[in-house]
Amino acid sequence: MHRTRNVKRLARLGHVALLCGCLLVSTMTTTDAEDRSAAADIEQRVDELLARMTLAEKVGQMNQVHAGDMDPLEELGDALRAGRIGSVINQVDVATVNELQRIAVEESRLGIPLLVGRDVIHGFKTVMPIPLGQAATWNPDIVRRGARIAALEAAKSGVNWTFAPMIDITRDPRWGRIAESPGEDPYLASRLAGAAVEGFQGDDLTAPGAILACAKHFAGYGEVESGRDYATTNIPENELRNVHLRPFRAAVDAGVATLMASFSDLNGVPATGNEFLMRQVLRDEWGFDGFVVSDWNSIHQLAVHGLTANDRDSALVAATAGVDMDMAGSVYVEELDELVDDGALDIDVIDTAVANILRVKFEMGLFDDPYTDPDALPAFGSAEALATAKVAALQSVVMLKNDNDVLPLSKDRLDRIAVIGPLADAPYEQLGTWIFDGDPELSVTALQGIRDLVGDDAKIEYVRAMETSRSKSTAPFDEATAAARRSDVVVLVLGEEAILSGEAHSRADINLPGAQAELVRRVREVGKPVIAVIMAGRPLTLTNIVDNVDAILYAWHPGTMGGPAIADLLFGVESPSGKLPATFPRMVGQVPIYYSQKNTGKPPSPDKIVHIDDIEARAPQTSLGMTAFHLDAGYTPLFPFGFGLSYADFRYDNIRVSDDEVALGGTLTISAELKNRGDVAAEEVVQLYVRDLVGNVTRPVRELKGFRRLRVEPDETVTVSFKLHTDDLAFFGRNNELMAEPGDFHAWIGGSSDTDLQTAFRVAASD
Ligand code: NOJ
Repeated sequence: MHRTRNVKRLARLGHVALLCGCLLVSTMTTTDAEDRSAAADIEQRVDELLARMTLAEKVGQMNQVHAGDMDPLEELGDALRAGRIGSVINQVDVATVNELQRIAVEESRLGIPLLVGRDVIHGFKTVMPIPLGQAATWNPDIVRRGARIAALEAAKSGVNWTFAPMIDITRDPRWGRIAESPGEDPYLASRLAGAAVEGFQGDDLTAPGAILACAKHFAGYGEVESGRDYATTNIPENELRNVHLRPFRAAVDAGVATLMASFSDLNGVPATGNEFLMRQVLRDEWGFDGFVVSDWNSIHQLAVHGLTANDRDSALVAATAGVDMDMAGSVYVEELDELVDDGALDIDVIDTAVANILRVKFEMGLFDDPYTDPDALPAFGSAEALATAKVAALQSVVMLKNDNDVLPLSKDRLDRIAVIGPLADAPYEQLGTWIFDGDPELSVTALQGIRDLVGDDAKIEYVRAMETSRSKSTAPFDEATAAARRSDVVVLVLGEEAILSGEAHSRADINLPGAQAELVRRVREVGKPVIAVIMAGRPLTLTNIVDNVDAILYAWHPGTMGGPAIADLLFGVESPSGKLPATFPRMVGQVPIYYSQKNTGKPPSPDKIVHIDDIEARAPQTSLGMTAFHLDAGYTPLFPFGFGLSYADFRYDNIRVSDDEVALGGTLTISAELKNRGDVAAEEVVQLYVRDLVGNVTRPVRELKGFRRLRVEPDETVTVSFKLHTDDLAFFGRNNELMAEPGDFHAWIGGSSDTDLQTAFRVAASD
């Protein structure tokens, strides 16, 4: 991170402790005079430059233009020379980028360099697992390393700004963009958001290979109605603050340089025109000093939403609300000059926006060196990149089922393995959504990974069985069942192709598409052990296949190195260690279903629910449990948040608190013992949950407050301790102010959100 960005970041660290737990507090360092003077120097350079700019040049800085699918040198040259472009998006030919920079720097009056933006969401050429898969690692360090690799590869192409991390909390697997998200939990998302920002931006924004991060989509996008992309969101301010804004606060505290306004309508005011979000929360409360970019043409869309009548009004509303740059919309560049000339828009609004943009350009060192030397950066798909992608994939896979320890497989004891399914050998599909630049040539598929590991191709029989995951034809299933019959075990590689998740790719039915459930059923009938490896961009409803398979490895879209990772897990080279970052519903009708729900006044329990099939025929109308459940789906998910099995046999025991009572402002320690009773070493993600029993506003039945990934040897017992400051228990109350309250709390430690290893403590008022 650039030193000046560090100064501001340190100034906010008091709040980090509140929102992100005690672990982050230990990363605090002291700032020094050198940092402050660098910041002051940048402010002075911003002021001096701003004073020399014409209105047209200022508006130019607020304009980002699409520079792909065209000859940008030909088409954008004049506007660059006139100072009417502040940033380009989607140009990744490094020679062209350098030439665009040269025109901006050498042929425009003030020589202001360009920001070069690109969606580098989960990798550039080397692709990490989709962000939801990365969240399943529960490993901020691997997220940081993955972002670093992505930054190095993107920077080699001249990109200096990525539109990541996407940190929209979502509890709706129908939403295609859940693939890009960190899942359902604000604490997990906050930890990963900070890590991703650090990975992209590094310690020094001026260093080759550092690129600007962009926390998106500010805010509430993950709540789109029925998971339909771009749809409306209605989120009470209290929930907005307690859930959706928290990862953004963490990104700002980590020094993120930019934010992107969401496409979505938030409580009647689309985010792109939402002053509450961008002025009150982001600037006044959080002190953010980077800049905000709109989403693609979203300023123009304010009129489509019906908030404004035309582009002129949209420009006025967005600029006033605090959107500093117009992404690919040309509304600002066409409307802002006149709005200022007419006196409709105060020049101070423009000056503030332009200062925000210039500050970031100075922090990046672009004025001193705007050009990219690709040779100074590592080759695409370097050994380090591939190794990082493999670790990320390994840790992202969640084992959901393993009846009778059918896994891990033993390559020596198996004569023949059938590998069946449309995603077993699909180098592009395993990369997942949003991989503009991802190189499928680098992909190693599951089939290849298994072949490489087994080392004897004759042992592997591959049948694709379906052309795509959506195919309905069952004609090739006979070939699949014949292969299963000839084999000792069947590995079915199923799921969704990349195109079934991502932006504008929402689904209302989240079962395995096409005839896949039928394929599972047919293969099951053969009677051999069946392992399902599922690649998907979302939690799928697996109810209709779960009883027809012996084991499930949920691999998300695992990226470039998915194949070797899956093979290592299938054959026990490593134990699965991923944990679900999102709840898996039994049926889509349960959505939204998430672990941190409120208790309700009529909480369900096993003895207070009735199944639809058990309602007596022609019974007089009676009460059916009278609690919060569905007659056909109950109230529990198929697999809960935080869940994931291991080849080790982990047992948790002996939970305790250091003090039964802690005064507000104090810290206590909650610990438990974790024993590996199995005979393999494995990594486990230990999780701490807390419930605040009585609150100023009702509190969730459980909230994640800490987690740690650690490796435990066979027979080893480790004591895992979490320090909890009472600030970590703070939440936004009735007045939407952050508060920590005295009262009684329950705490749990375990390997999933449904752990029942519980203790209690009390927070007392401070003296
Ligand atoms: C629209 C998407 O919502 C956003 O996430 C992305 O960064 C931009 N397009 C640019 O491609």
